[in-house]
Amino acid sequence: MNHADITYRLENAADEAEIEAIAEEAFGPGRFARAAFKLREGGPHDAALSFVAETGGEIIGSVRMTPVAACAGRGHLLGPLAVRPAFKNKGIGKKLVALALDAARRAGSPAVILVGDQPYYGPLGFQRVPVGKLRMERPVDPNRLLVAELAEGVADTLSGVIVHANRAKKRSAASA
Ligand SMILES: CC(C)(COP(=O)(O)OP(=O)(O)OC[C@H]1O[C@@H](n2cnc3c(N)ncnc32)[C@H](O)[C@@H]1OP(=O)(O)O)[C@@H](O)C(=O)NCCC(=O)NCCS
Repeated sequence: MNHADITYRLENAADEAEIEAIAEEAFGPGRFARAAFKLREGGPHDAALSFVAETGGEIIGSVRMTPVAACAGRGHLLGPLAVRPAFKNKGIGKKLVALALDAARRAGSPAVILVGDQPYYGPLGFQRVPVGKLRMERPVDPNRLLVAELAEGVADTLSGVIVHANRAKKRSAASA
């Protein structure tokens, strides 16, 4: 297999089982306890910004994007990002992140947040969120909370607890 054999496309509903199997393989059952997983329970991901990599009709990598809000700010949470072990270190993960960021930018999303390793995501445009500025409902290592600004200065509008955008809408409807 060479790079020319790998194709990238938006995910669709028929991919669900394969994507779930990749997440299980990458993160195991412990994924359900993670802060980002808990947030994603608040509502659906955005399939229009979520991509898969495939070769020979088999999905070998996946990235998902979920709409989020934090106080007055909004954006997307990137993740899970996973590549099947046999296909690691071929640039697939970085390409999936680039596709997701580009799609979010084109869709008008102002910022993309994730929980991950800065050495991996830093060169892809992510920086650490200042400690204490953003939180999740479950504890998260502040050194792993990263943001990519898609519009200048927008990270300043994100503060407080990051929740699924649907939950933020329900809260503001309840307080109106
Ligand atoms: C992390 C992951 C998505 C990377 O996918 P990939 O397609 O293998 O990555 P790429 O080919 O784009 O990049 C590989 C490079 O990133 C480096 N890298 C991989 N994971 C890294 C990490 N956690 N921290 C720093 N560097 C990392 C590799 O060493 C390699 O470096 P090199 O180019 O200097 O050799 C993949 O390893 C994976 O699925 N891991 C398990 C799930 C996971 O941890 N997901 C991320 C959650 S935040």
